[in-house]
Amino acid sequence: MANSLTRHFAQRTKDMKASEVRELLKLLQVPELISFAGGFPNPETFPAELIKSIVCDVLEKDGAQSLQYGITEGYAPLRESVAERMRKKGIDAQKENVLIVSGSQQVIDLTGKVFIDPKDTIVVSAPTYLAALTGWTVMQANFESIPIDDNNMRMDIFEERMKKLVRRPNPPKIVYVLPNFQNPAGVTMPEKNRRKLVDLASDYDFIILEDDPYGELRYVGKDIKPVKSWDDEGRVIYMSTFSKILAPGLRVGWAIAHPDILQKLIITKQSTDVCANVLGQRIAHEYIVQGHIDPQIERIKEIYSRKMEIMLSGMSEFMPDDLRWTRPEGGMFLWVTLPEWMDSAELLKKALKKRVAFVTGSAFFANPKEGNSAMRLNFTHPSDEMITEGLRRLGSVVNQELVSKWDRPSESIERKMEDAVKGSLIGKS
Ligand SMILES: Cc1ncc(COP(=O)(O)O)c(C=O)c1O
Repeated sequence: MANSLTRHFAQRTKDMKASEVRELLKLLQVPELISFAGGFPNPETFPAELIKSIVCDVLEKDGAQSLQYGITEGYAPLRESVAERMRKKGIDAQKENVLIVSGSQQVIDLTGKVFIDPKDTIVVSAPTYLAALTGWTVMQANFESIPIDDNNMRMDIFEERMKKLVRRPNPPKIVYVLPNFQNPAGVTMPEKNRRKLVDLASDYDFIILEDDPYGELRYVGKDIKPVKSWDDEGRVIYMSTFSKILAPGLRVGWAIAHPDILQKLIITKQSTDVCANVLGQRIAHEYIVQGHIDPQIERIKEIYSRKMEIMLSGMSEFMPDDLRWTRPEGGMFLWVTLPEWMDSAELLKKALKKRVAFVTGSAFFANPKEGNSAMRLNFTHPSDEMITEGLRRLGSVVNQELVSKWDRPSESIERKMEDAVKGSLIGKS
């Protein structure tokens, strides 16, 4: 476009850049590319036949209403059934606390519009969900990043940082957390840290935005109650979605919040998109009331837990010992830490030549100088065979990097090679 036209762009678009993940998603179309890059559910899990029959039923019984504009709050029976499911998870929710949104991504946008003035601070983990960073960057938010470990956000560092931040004239308004199988790192926040977070919210007067798209997808261990379940003061906004347990194309998600907060979100949503996809809401509602949702979640868990195991054993088989990776208890992602000197952007270029893709770690940091030697791998979208083949390719690219750095294979590669030879001699696969 002519320069003279781009100069009319609003100031706030200055820091906007195309999402690295979205750009990479385009590569999914490239033949023979094995992509660990996207955050896509596996289409094998989409109940297309069931949705077809639900759509026919809904249109036959109530075609007029299901194709009409809906109220902004959402389809009342769906709000009720979501509230009921949330109560089973320990959240004290009534229909009046539920807002149906156009995918839970919309809650990022709405909370930004409702709470964030330019330069207001949002505390995020480092790394965190990429599209939250991009969504709030448009609002000109300032980010404070707290490192993670295997227990998700480091609560000791968080508390120390909060003590300092609350002394500033403009203390943090929102703390954004993804307690279950965090995107991108796959790590989970233990119960005691969740309780602690709620206590600190009260002590330091901030709002928690709890993003939980993967909570239903636990493959190992026991469920932990949401942060919102310990919220006595209405400080926690909880968000989740049908995208990972039904189909993302429906664009139906929900927020649970105190009625005062919900009211502002509703007014804001009115001018954003009027209402969420009405037919999609009807489908989601029928899917729940006809009793399909729990068996479907079990089916998805069976498929994804198998894929995660294939991923983890492929990592052990093909990656040198110089790498570390998380062992998620659920969700869709694995976070891989490379040797510090290894640049994942350079690695990606080489990986693409071998027709395998991932997302570079720095995409998930508010400070793009961080995360260079890390990558996110998705294990839900590729087929079982492609996971193994993709890791074989990626492993060879990483090993090649080590070889060229040290001019010889690192000891761990040598050992693996010896093991592989021994293995094949004794007939180990
Ligand atoms: C952490 C996180 N939050 C929110 C979303 C948005 O999901 P949707 O808008 O499809 O509900 C995603 C999607 O991948 C996600 O990973």
